[in-house]
Amino acid sequence: MPPRYDRRTALRPLLAALALAGALAACGGSGTSSGDTPVTYNDLAVPPLLTGTTSGGVTTFDLALAASTKQLKPGARTETYGFNGADFWGPTLVLNRGDPVRMNVRNDLAEETTVHWHGLLLPGSADGGPHQVVMPGATWLTPAFPVKNRAATYWYHPHMHMMTQKQLTLGAGGLIIVRDAEEAALPLPRTYGVDDIPLVLTSRRFTTTSGVANQFQYTTIAYGDYLLANGTMNAQVSLPRQVVRLRILNGEIERGYNLGFKDGRTFQVIGGDGGLLAAPVPVTRLVLVPGERYEILVDLSGDTVGSTLDLQSFNGPGSGLAFGFAGYENATSGEFGSLLNYRTFDVLHVRVAAARSGGVTALPATLVSSTYPSVGDVSRSRTVNITADGPGAPFTFDGLGFDMDRIDQFVTAGATESWTITAGTIFSHSFHIHGVQFKILARNGSASAVGSHEQGWKDTVYLPIREAATFIARFDETADASFPFMYHCHMVNHEDGGLMGQFTVH
Ligand code: C2O
Ligand code: CU
Repeated sequence: MPPRYDRRTALRPLLAALALAGALAACGGSGTSSGDTPVTYNDLAVPPLLTGTTSGGVTTFDLALAASTKQLKPGARTETYGFNGADFWGPTLVLNRGDPVRMNVRNDLAEETTVHWHGLLLPGSADGGPHQVVMPGATWLTPAFPVKNRAATYWYHPHMHMMTQKQLTLGAGGLIIVRDAEEAALPLPRTYGVDDIPLVLTSRRFTTTSGVANQFQYTTIAYGDYLLANGTMNAQVSLPRQVVRLRILNGEIERGYNLGFKDGRTFQVIGGDGGLLAAPVPVTRLVLVPGERYEILVDLSGDTVGSTLDLQSFNGPGSGLAFGFAGYENATSGEFGSLLNYRTFDVLHVRVAAARSGGVTALPATLVSSTYPSVGDVSRSRTVNITADGPGAPFTFDGLGFDMDRIDQFVTAGATESWTITAGTIFSHSFHIHGVQFKILARNGSASAVGSHEQGWKDTVYLPIREAATFIARFDETADASFPFMYHCHMVNHEDGGLMGQFTVH
């Protein structure tokens, strides 16, 4: 492990601060990405859809992960990873609830990898965790599994222990859209790339590697300096003057986003990690931590064709955030600094275009009804504490770093359990668990402290510093000790550093 310094003592270098302030003043505070250059917008990349090939009643999705390069900055191209020929990220898989599917993953990298289906309900043998290594040149064909998830946005990404930060940073990942009849019956925008926009948010720092400039840094780093939306820097998108839907994934290594519009407009959260909510929840700000997804509706019907609006992240002073929120550290460089930290930054520039005929013009009043596991059925309650020997030491669960050969929890198949996760006193975290979708019951023991927008099915939960979250889940998917399920912090640097545990269900 490289030495880590305490991020609370990281000082924003004075000269960098002065330069940044000067650049902001010169640009009038608008049209800047990281504050140091005026912006030329690039059209938001929209990953292609992959619907699979059906034979014998089973739909197979063929994925191949390979190295590529992408022109992100003037000069040298950036070395990247992508699925199916993409120069960053991968296609969006479209799954229909109830269909039997299998995933066929070829590893064309020169190193080992695994591919995990984040949020999908499937057995451990198909889950793609750290034990399911795909050797270079090899192909992993999962067992067939039925799509059990509700309509929502899921994702896939490598899960190779201690390699996840590298492989995710280089661009290995993709979205999964599950469709079902309930969602299809609702008057929601669902024309992909037109009024239903996938938005994968992350950031990168560029460094010189082996004498080549413009390469992604993926060691001793928590935050990037430049925002990438679907791999696009300074992204803009044209959206019709009606109700539009954004499917947002925080695909970061560590940063949290506190999203909102520059004009302060209200938008509607309609769904979270594992399904739609009962009804839209109006908000002006929305926090997403790494691994989380939220779907939102934005009503552009009152906007003028040709006008613009900006989705931003309000990560600076005055935003209501405090130390512990990832990306609020007051430093522009170093392991826990970034040009995007401790400030408001642009996420997506929207140009309002003419309405499309047949587009959605009104917000739905209600969405779906869900039946959640009931507290009366809880057969076991567990507490899992995030621990560390002190600031700068690796995070662990209950004092134990990740061990591939140790099963940390044994769950009975079909059992309903409640789990309470405590964040500890050093930093915030993003807790994710495989094999289930859960319902958040309480924050710090209080049901009323759970946000209205996070009342739906979840697989990832924000754990603010010094807080606890309790969720309930029914463990219907099985996993044995050869392919156990994982629970971990989805701040990928914490995960790679050992903040991960394993459990079996049988
Ligand atoms: Cu998104 Cu265990 O992972
Ligand atoms: Cu963490």
